[in-house]
Order: sequence, then structure tokens, then C-alpha cells
Amino acid sequence: MLESLPLPSPNLSLIADPIQDRESIVVAGLSGDGTLSPTLVQWDEATNGWLTRLVEKGQVRGKQGEMNLLASPLSDGPNMVLVVGLGKKTLSRSNAFDLASAAVRKLSDRRRDRIIIALGESLPVEMQDVVVAGAIFGCENQAIYQSEPSATIPAEIGFAGIGQAAIDRGRIIGSSINQTRRLVNEPSAMIYPASFAEVAKKVAAECGLECEIWDEAKLEAEGCRAILAVGAGSAAPPRLVILKHNGGGAEAPLAIVGKGVTFDSGGLSLKPSEGMVDMKCDMAGAATVLGTMRAIAQLGVKQNVIGFCGLAENMVSGSCYKLGDVIETRSGKTIEILNTDAEGRVVLADTLDVAIQHSPRAMVDLATLTGACMVALGVEVAGLMPNDASLCETIEVAAEEEGEPVWQLPMFDLYDDKVKSKIADIKNVGEGRWGGAITAAKFLENFVGDVPWVHIDIAGPAFADSAKPHRDAGATGAMVRTLIRWIENATH
Ligand code: BES
Ligand code: MN
Ligand code: ZN
Repeated sequence: MLESLPLPSPNLSLIADPIQDRESIVVAGLSGDGTLSPTLVQWDEATNGWLTRLVEKGQVRGKQGEMNLLASPLSDGPNMVLVVGLGKKTLSRSNAFDLASAAVRKLSDRRRDRIIIALGESLPVEMQDVVVAGAIFGCENQAIYQSEPSATIPAEIGFAGIGQAAIDRGRIIGSSINQTRRLVNEPSAMIYPASFAEVAKKVAAECGLECEIWDEAKLEAEGCRAILAVGAGSAAPPRLVILKHNGGGAEAPLAIVGKGVTFDSGGLSLKPSEGMVDMKCDMAGAATVLGTMRAIAQLGVKQNVIGFCGLAENMVSGSCYKLGDVIETRSGKTIEILNTDAEGRVVLADTLDVAIQHSPRAMVDLATLTGACMVALGVEVAGLMPNDASLCETIEVAAEEEGEPVWQLPMFDLYDDKVKSKIADIKNVGEGRWGGAITAAKFLENFVGDVPWVHIDIAGPAFADSAKPHRDAGATGAMVRTLIRWIENATH
């Protein structure tokens, strides 16, 4: 049976004195102005100014992201040092995360038994966890089905200059992001609604989340006709997964809701091949919810949080939903289907309705919802579409702190009419292509009642066409870090 690699889980340890370590490679930072980090200073002293000379001659520079792998002249210390340029400006959390990940990726070109990352020694305590999270993030890539893996991850990663708390936190966050990425990178033959639900169940059991799975019969009984309609054309029937973390006593929960279209062919409004080729990624919202729930459970966050994953596969067959169909959603509102490729909002209609029945004090949904959002903001920026300005600001603050780019799009009333149907309550497309990200959000707004809510369109940032130094192409795990921070800091 085809099986992908296990998720990377290198041994992580604390290293007191990297210079004394034999048979390893040490990763340490050099500032943009040429200042050596403490580990490099020690090295320099033990070698009569080896590094100072290289820096003075301009052979090794501290430009942010620059990497120089040098053989150490020390006969009884580590074999090599990877000098990482930290740049001239103060590092942000995402800069530090990216540098740690890029360093691990740089060293994954061959087998390395043991690497020691000392990048944390130049960072304030509250930022040290990202070095660990970034290093683990850098161990995962999209090449999960190669018989001879092109990248090899170290068996052991040591960390110098940081505390055990940073290791524990970083490990949880890095591995949770990788869990999200792996689900997205898995092809649709591997991850379909029922198998996604099984993974969710397993993850929930491992980290102490409550997990409820709604199968077709339960979806029927609950009146989730919209989810069932989208999944009707597929041999792989839909599911709804509910994950609960109880850390906040009697307080009303936060809800996070994800679009989980495990493959989006477009249905009868069929996508061309170029548009369909990456559509295994269309469950990234649901995978983001699962990764985030895993992290907050393992971190023991003192909040009540419920995650909802609406799972269906959008296919073409004799039983698929059709153009002109009218569906009575779980909420009672009717929707007219004018394009079967606008399926994410249809799945979310019922999923959001289930979520608001849990009376959340705030709700966020994540969805690879529209190509239009990518046209508006480019592929790296997530679109925020709220019904509540102050909730939106808390998401913006969390995203800013984690360095994940987001931008708010307007939700003016003037868009409301654009999803009105002549036949049903609403239609599942706007008027032409214009403002497509916003009209999709306006559709969703019909299903959130008066719960403070932010819709996050991650069609661009969830899945990358090309690699960067800090990550492979494919799934990115975008917004997991932002959501964790938002949940940890949520006061209302
Ligand atoms: N899953 C797609 C959106 C998408 C496109 C995500 C590219 C990631 C990358 C979504 O279901 C879709 O097909 N949206 C249509 C909506 C249209 C038919 C109103 C789109 O964006 O074209
Ligand atoms: Mn679609
Ligand atoms: Zn879709």
C-alpha cells in the first residue's frame, strides 16, 4: 500500500556548550554589521581570530539570509559551522523562524547525524520558541513519495542558548504546522473526507481533544443538505469533524471553522487542468483548523475552543449536484447553485450553522475560497472579511506579531444584493467576476447569525507554486501561528 513518510520528529536536546561538541555542525548567527554571536566569538577566540579575518576580508557576510558553511579549523570541536546572516535590523519572530528553517533546509542536502542550532542565543527569551518551530518546519517538504528522499533530516537537533520551555513550545508549534502541511500535501486518493476524519480522530486521541465525526447518515439527520450536495458526486462521502478543547472553564468558546474540500474538480462547472492540478490543497482551511487544535491542546491553552471541519469532495458523476439546483441548507435558508465550482461556500454554509449552535463568543473561518482573493492581494497575503471590526483587529494584531501577512477587504452593505437570488434566498455566485472574494464572504455572512466573525480567505498563501529558502513549494501551513496566538491572547 502506498504510504507517505512519517512526519519528521528529530530528537531535540539542549546543548550547553556547542564548541565542545564533536562530530556535529553548528548553526550560528552573524549580524549585518559584522558582530559575531557569542558562539562565534568563542570559536574565534579558540582559533586565533579565524572568523574575524573572514569577516574583515568580506568573505563571510551577515546579510540577512546569507549562509556560509565553513569547515572548522578546530581539531577537537565540531566539524563545521554554518554562519547565518542575521541582517542589520532587529529580527522579527517570522525572520527568526525563516532563518532557522532555511538553515535546516540548507543542511538537508546530505545526511547529517547531528546539528546544533545556536541562533536563539541572539534573541530575547520570548522569541526563542520560533527557532525550534522553524527548525522543525524546515524538516518537512512536499517530496513525501520519493523512494530516495532528496532531502534528509538530521536525526538529532541540539539547541544552544535557549531554554527547555522554548524547545517544548517550539516543538509543539512546528510539528502542528507540519501536520497541517502534510494533510494538504497528501493527494486526494490518500486524504478524502473519511480519511481526514480518521486522522483528526487519531490526532485528537494523541493530544487529548474531544472528537466527534458526523458521517452521511448523521449529516442527513442533522439537515446538512448543503454539505451532502457538494459531496453527492463523489464515491468518497462527506464528513463533518468537531474537535473540542476545554481549557477555559465556563466561558463561551471560540470557534474555528475550516473548508475541507479534499479535491475540487469544479464539478459540472469543471475546472481546466491548469486550475485543477493543485486542488488537493482545497482542504487547507480544515487542515489549518486541525493543526491549530492540536497545538492548543498540547500547549494546554486556557481557553475553550471548538474546531469544525466541513469535508466533501467536489466531483463529477451521475449523482453530482447540478446548476440550477436549489438546496435548503441546515439553517433553513435556500441557495441556488449557479456554479458548482463555488462549492466551498456551500460546504461552509452548513458548517458555520453547526458552529454557531455552540454559541461561540467569536468565530473565525479559514478557506481556500476564491481565486479572486489571489487577484486582489497576490499569493502571499490572506484576505480578512469580518462582520465585527474589533475581532478583525485582534486577528490583525496576532498576524502582525507572527509576521503572517493579512489584509482586510471591505464588507460594505452595497455587496449584499449581489448574492440575492431570483429563485431562492441567495445564489452561490456574485455578479460576474468583480469583487469575487467579497461576494463569497457576503454569502457566508448569511450563515453566521450575530456571532462576531472573521472570514479568512487563504487561497493564495495556503499553497505555494515555488520553493523559497525557508520552505519547499506546496503546503505552507499559513495562519496556524496566527490562530494559536489569537487564541492564546483572546480576551473577548
Ligand atoms: N477552491 C477554489 C478557489 C481556489 C482557486 C483556491 C485557486 C486555491 C487556488 C474555489 O472553490 C473556486 O473554485 N472558486 C471559484 C469561484 C467562482 C466559481 C465563483 C473561483 O475562484 O474561480
Ligand atoms: Mn471550486
Ligand atoms: Zn474550492
